[in-house]
Amino acid sequence: MSRDLLRRRAAAVPDGLSAATPLVVARAEGSELVDPEGRRYIDLASGIGAMNLGHGHPDLLAAAREQLERFTHVAAQVATYEGYVRLAEELGRLYPTAPGAARPATKTVLLSSGAEAVENAIKIARVATGREWIVAFANSFHGRTYAAMTATGKTKNSRFPFMRSTSPSVAHLPYPYPYRPLVEGSEEELVALHVRLFEQALDTHLAPEHVAAVIAEPVQGEGGFVVPPRSFFQRIKEVCERHGILFIADEVQTGFARTGRMFAMEHFGVTPDLLVTSKSLGGGFPLGAVTARAELFDALGKGSLGATFGGNPVACATALATIRVIERDGICARAERVGARTVERFRAMAERHASIGDVRGLGAMVAMELVADRRTKAPAAALYERVQAEAFRRGVVLVRAGLYSNVLRVLAPLTIPDALLETALDRIDEAIAAAS
Ligand SMILES: Cc1ncc(COP(=O)(O)O)c(C=O)c1O
Repeated sequence: MSRDLLRRRAAAVPDGLSAATPLVVARAEGSELVDPEGRRYIDLASGIGAMNLGHGHPDLLAAAREQLERFTHVAAQVATYEGYVRLAEELGRLYPTAPGAARPATKTVLLSSGAEAVENAIKIARVATGREWIVAFANSFHGRTYAAMTATGKTKNSRFPFMRSTSPSVAHLPYPYPYRPLVEGSEEELVALHVRLFEQALDTHLAPEHVAAVIAEPVQGEGGFVVPPRSFFQRIKEVCERHGILFIADEVQTGFARTGRMFAMEHFGVTPDLLVTSKSLGGGFPLGAVTARAELFDALGKGSLGATFGGNPVACATALATIRVIERDGICARAERVGARTVERFRAMAERHASIGDVRGLGAMVAMELVADRRTKAPAAALYERVQAEAFRRGVVLVRAGLYSNVLRVLAPLTIPDALLETALDRIDEAIAAAS
């Protein structure tokens, strides 16, 4: 049955949309995917970080069912419904805020995806500042629509086939990558260099008065779970504030408890001007959001934002249930435990497998970077492919990441039972041994 569907997919769906595994899914339960033949797979991809609460969570299903019975779609440009408004209020209540700072008054517009939310954040920043330029980071990923793709700095698959030149009005700066630093030295020295590069860009080829915003992932997701030093965003934000440049935090992958906090920016002690969320926000339904200081939205003309399906009522219901469950069940603390155990196991594996060059992460956003040689750090992309295939043969679903396609990332559901996590990690260990 699986083989038949894969054959039909090959005939009817373009290879441009490729799948990381040959898995066909018939059912999903908790942290497991089940194929039509009844084989069970531990899901360490979580729908690329969109299922932080796992599959079939009873609270989310109940919220969806209840909303399905009442109405499924009306469009927020046509009429008002409570779920939309309440979700906007909740995202304001949870807005990541620097320690000691007052939580800003925010507003929220809801969209249908991460890329669409990024598009809107860029549009809002440009109108609110009256400026055109966006500063983004090398090795970033912000989505596949045109403005999001332009901001994306990890370009090989997602941008080069569609745009060969650098788009006007977006400039990229290097992002601090502690495993592959631009200078050897302390974290402070690395941060100082990257802040200097930003200042130098503003002194040379970018006029600060033309720069609307900096957009950054607090931890680069597709780029390979690159965690910058803790002081990085504070220093970048200080430069932004000196020049009236807005700071957009793209928390599409890092959001909703993934890093052990509701939002990863809380680790960095910075209040963003705009917050972009999606993936686990919708709890399995397509939903994106831009939450920002109210006055930034207020600069926009009436009717200038919208999307037919943005803030779909069923997705709003599951989003509200997601937030409720994260808070009620202590999911942030659970993410810390899942992450700490994964890091501990990966470090133990690194003592036995020379191909593990680096183990890193924040909360339950954990990765290992595979290399051919620890001294030269030459990336081992082919080895990663073999590890993924061996893990799949052992019933574990992984998706890769990283500039060099050599990063094994774990996006386990945060609700994964301890025993299942241990089994998945055992199988990864065996897969690396078999692939090496
Ligand atoms: C940080 C980040 N921003 C934006 C996106 C784009 O989201 P979507 O695929 O929902 O358009 C992604 C997707 O992986 C992402 O990781």
